[in-house]
Amino acid sequence: MKVMIVGGGGREHAIAMSVAKSEKVEKIYCLPGNAGIEAVAQCVPIGPMEFEKIRDFAKEQKIDLAVIGMDDPLVGGLTDILEAEGIRTFGPRKNAAILEGSKAFSKDLMKKYQIPTAAYENFDNADDALCYLERASYPIVLKADGLALGKGVLICKSFEEAKAGVKEIMLDKKFGASGNTMVVEEFMTGREVSVLSFVDGKTVKTMTSAQDHKRAKDGDEGPNTGGMGTFSPSPFYTEEIARYCEEHIFQPTVDAMRTEGREFKGIIFFGLMLTEDGPKVLEYNARFGDPEAQVVLPRMKTDIVDVMEACIDGTLDQVNLEFEDNAAVCVVLASDGYPLAYEKGIPIEGFEKFEGKDGYYCFHAGTKKNEQGQIVTNGGRVLGITAKGADLKEARKNAYAATEWIPLLISICATILERRSMRRKKDEKRTFIEKWAGQMQEKWDVRLGLLIVTRIAK
Ligand code: AMP
Ligand code: GLY
Repeated sequence: MKVMIVGGGGREHAIAMSVAKSEKVEKIYCLPGNAGIEAVAQCVPIGPMEFEKIRDFAKEQKIDLAVIGMDDPLVGGLTDILEAEGIRTFGPRKNAAILEGSKAFSKDLMKKYQIPTAAYENFDNADDALCYLERASYPIVLKADGLALGKGVLICKSFEEAKAGVKEIMLDKKFGASGNTMVVEEFMTGREVSVLSFVDGKTVKTMTSAQDHKRAKDGDEGPNTGGMGTFSPSPFYTEEIARYCEEHIFQPTVDAMRTEGREFKGIIFFGLMLTEDGPKVLEYNARFGDPEAQVVLPRMKTDIVDVMEACIDGTLDQVNLEFEDNAAVCVVLASDGYPLAYEKGIPIEGFEKFEGKDGYYCFHAGTKKNEQGQIVTNGGRVLGITAKGADLKEARKNAYAATEWIPLLISICATILERRSMRRKKDEKRTFIEKWAGQMQEKWDVRLGLLIVTRIAK
């Protein structure tokens, strides 16, 4: 089989590595891919929104299965375009990808079908939003309706902050047309859990759970990002909670979409908050999470190509979806300044240390080869270092140890479970980083590329 993957981040690297394990697959193309994906797929310089070029490429190469990793092309209708040419495509059609593409749509859907979620109001003009916010209780959450690279959510502690938020989203259009409509949502507290699932239009099969860390800095500080790290499974997602979610959230969502004439086939990523009143939906995504895929897929035992084909064919009920009984942690190494401004083009070394190491993965997110053939940074999130372990504690230890194999990219430690001990380590590490950064600055005359990461559990 010839498989074409659309996207070029850490998630697509994880998907490509899973697809490569399938015995059915002879050739993988990744559009546009990145410097790490090249090891398992032929990367083709076509952007994810260049729909005509993607379609023509798929036809020329006689692609047997297209896998769309990213939200923008799904929401833009790439699946429909490929299907119209007879290309089997994994990922929802445009009318179903709206589940992620419009938060106002998803909130209205949940309300209509009584799927538990935070109370909300949708606004399409700033004056009405401000009028409502003046009388609201705080904190409160503002969300740009459309896609915003995971950054269009503002948690506001006061009316002043909310006013600034409305300006940012609706007037200054920081997230472009995504801010034409804004959702104002009740602030919820609790543990967050991500549950990714395969869906074939009627059957939903969940994968092992995960949790990511969204804020840019430790201690839940800094702006929201696309995700600075993840772990899987979530110890808070118990069997009892899973049963509740199956009955009240997962199946009802899939049924609601079908009833609305928007049959969903592909991945539904349920972002959940485990509140005192039970699990509630924070958000839906219509694709694998990034970096959730980097901890969930390495633990998946079932052939991913079989599962994707079953989703397309509507035979998911016949699939036995299995995961390893262990844990995985992914630490994201990001460019200093992400998610705002950051430098690109800083050389990275040390990849060979991952070769032959079972249970360790270096997923490339923002990398490319420069003219000299060196691998350099090319994005905010640069690498996702994943390691498995018998349990979360071991996986975390392994993942942080592996971050040391990449000398130019440094992670400031973050916590997952035992926060206190990790905080101590973080301080030790910071001292080291400051010292090291000084030396490197002299030596390389570059601003220290990197760092941050993850504090995961609260
Ligand atoms: P979303 O893109 O909707 O998942 O939002 C990004 C992050 O913002 C979530 O992972 C939460 O940490 C936070 N968030 C979103 N909505 C709420 C809410 N209603 N209450 C509290 N936190 C929220
Ligand atoms: N890590 C969250 C997302 O992929 O949306």
